[in-house]
Amino acid sequence: VERMIIDCDPGHDDALAIILAAGSPNIDLIAITTVAGNQTAEKVTRNALAVCAVAGILTVPVAQGASVPLVRAQRVAPDIHGESGLDGPVLPEAQIELDPRHAVTLIIDEIMSNEPGTITLVPTGPLTNIAMAMKLEPRIVDRVKRVILMGGSYTRGNTTPAAEFNIIADPEAAHAVFAGDWPVTMVGLDLTHQATADADVVARIAAIDSPLSAFVVEILAFFGSTYREVQGFDAPPVHDLCCVAKLVDPAVFETEDAFVGVELTGTWTTGMTVIDFTNLLGEKANTQVATTLDKDLLWNMTIDAISALSKG
Ligand code: BDR
Ligand code: CA
Repeated sequence: VERMIIDCDPGHDDALAIILAAGSPNIDLIAITTVAGNQTAEKVTRNALAVCAVAGILTVPVAQGASVPLVRAQRVAPDIHGESGLDGPVLPEAQIELDPRHAVTLIIDEIMSNEPGTITLVPTGPLTNIAMAMKLEPRIVDRVKRVILMGGSYTRGNTTPAAEFNIIADPEAAHAVFAGDWPVTMVGLDLTHQATADADVVARIAAIDSPLSAFVVEILAFFGSTYREVQGFDAPPVHDLCCVAKLVDPAVFETEDAFVGVELTGTWTTGMTVIDFTNLLGEKANTQVATTLDKDLLWNMTIDAISALSKG
């Protein structure tokens, strides 16, 4: 069983990532922490609690984290995720109390109180909390098994021509995480744009015919409409889901080892992930960069998880 913490900003694709983690038998979801990103910290935390309520996640601690990036002005993404951060479905009331700890404290507590090498961190929002945790308790870097993060790209951005949202939302935090001496898997847009929820997938989810499956269908309908209007996609790419999928079954995507740097000073390229596939810089490869997705495997495991949670 893989023990993991998801640090997220739900967010339609973050919501699917939480559901896959909670509904997969080989995953032990030990905490959900939130960070400002797609919307403010208050809004994304409220959304995380709503996802827990509809999915029947009642025993996992949820803690709110950073409300602003380390250095830059805050960015949110209402064009993609709506004013609530999770527009589309009616959001149910929370069924659990928020953990009183700051997300950064909860992350450190869990990593320091578990056996070294047992916990995987899955950041699916800006990397503010993770960078803050590294600075507050540097020993976590040695104790974490792996970091599987959604962010970046080796081809093009989605927020600026060069930068992906999670990285440009807090580039200094991203720099710290990639530079940390721990195993990092980068799940960037090159991979996640293969992970679209096409009409056949939505139909299979609808056929589960439960309150949770209806919620997921509404999430995908809203996400699909904004992705169509804003980014010109036929179907929405469910980015964050891919990170959890890697932990459920490593066969879900292939990776290539490379050095990844985060651009902090470019005129046009701030927030870009620069990937040295051919080792031109002679730097140590610090990242497994996701390249090719097994889309059938991704959706089969996701549909299994929604079915499992629907049975309660
Ligand atoms: C990332 O940004 C957010 O909009 C999504 O939740 C995902 O984590 C994609 O660029
Ligand atoms: Ca996200």
